[in-house]
Amino acid sequence: MGTEADNGQIHIPVLLRECIEFLAPHAGGVYVDGTLGLGGHTREILSQSAPDGRVVAFEWDENALYHNQGTLREYRERLTIIRRNFAEIDEGLKEAEVEKIDGLMIDVGLSSLQLDYGERGFSFQRDAALDMRMDSRNEVSAQSILASATEQELADIFFYYGGEKQARPIALAIVENRKKERIETTKQLVLIVAHAIPKRFHPKKIHVATKVFQALRIAVNTELENLSRIIDNGVKYLKPGARFCVISFHSLEDKIVKRKFKNNEQLEVITTKPVVPGLEEVAANSRARSARLRVAEKR
Ligand SMILES: C[S@@+](CC[C@H](N)C(=O)[O-])C[C@H]1O[C@@H](n2cnc3c(N)ncnc32)[C@H](O)[C@@H]1O
Repeated sequence: MGTEADNGQIHIPVLLRECIEFLAPHAGGVYVDGTLGLGGHTREILSQSAPDGRVVAFEWDENALYHNQGTLREYRERLTIIRRNFAEIDEGLKEAEVEKIDGLMIDVGLSSLQLDYGERGFSFQRDAALDMRMDSRNEVSAQSILASATEQELADIFFYYGGEKQARPIALAIVENRKKERIETTKQLVLIVAHAIPKRFHPKKIHVATKVFQALRIAVNTELENLSRIIDNGVKYLKPGARFCVISFHSLEDKIVKRKFKNNEQLEVITTKPVVPGLEEVAANSRARSARLRVAEKR
């Protein structure tokens, strides 16, 4: 089952069955989906909580919001969409006039709409402006970071957010190149990275610029900070027994979720090990490959 985006691509919700089983939506319940995307999880929560369950969904990408106007129309009376960063859950729930909730989920990262639309600059596969903002209202873009961060800041971004061992030579190459011309396109960045890393260190299984692109995206969208903030701020809204489900896609995120769930005295961890997709799901949806679901319950 998938949701067709405007460009004809399908976004298949990841770990949908597992996530819904843990959330166990019921009639009359109020749920928060922090990452509406193309509405895959929200639709299922609304369907399972019929006839009067409610979802408050956060989404900061206007393209996704535009898309959902049509596809979620049938649920519009039970769905409140908030165009905000999910880290601003306090403000969002105030706007939605919701005080307590029966479950909270987030499915971080990019939707197919963002990934497959080359023009947003998320992918090194297509030449495009280096934007990478999920929320076009934000001031910081990949271009602005590449233009203004110091060599040390760039190296830290690539090393800590991308795990890129060649972070230093890449940062130096960016600083040298930007003296000659502004780094504005994905193609320019790919070439700079490919030249900065000695051939013998080029990775065999992934594209040479994969880690740099991932790191920049995390920095542009302050992804790790947002994740920490929603866990810190979201727990107080959960009713006793309500579940908090997080689907993440790389180890930096998963570490934050694991640590924050474990250290929060108001939460009991339900998944001691992360739930991962089965072989069948991965075969049907390559985006699910690295997904990990962790669940905690409010005491
Ligand atoms: C992986 S997709 C969610 C897919 C969705 N569960 C579905 O099945 O269609 C993640 C979505 O969350 C949005 N997003 C990511 N971080 C966000 C944040 N901090 N605040 C609001 N939306 C965010 C992205 O714009 C993207 O549309």
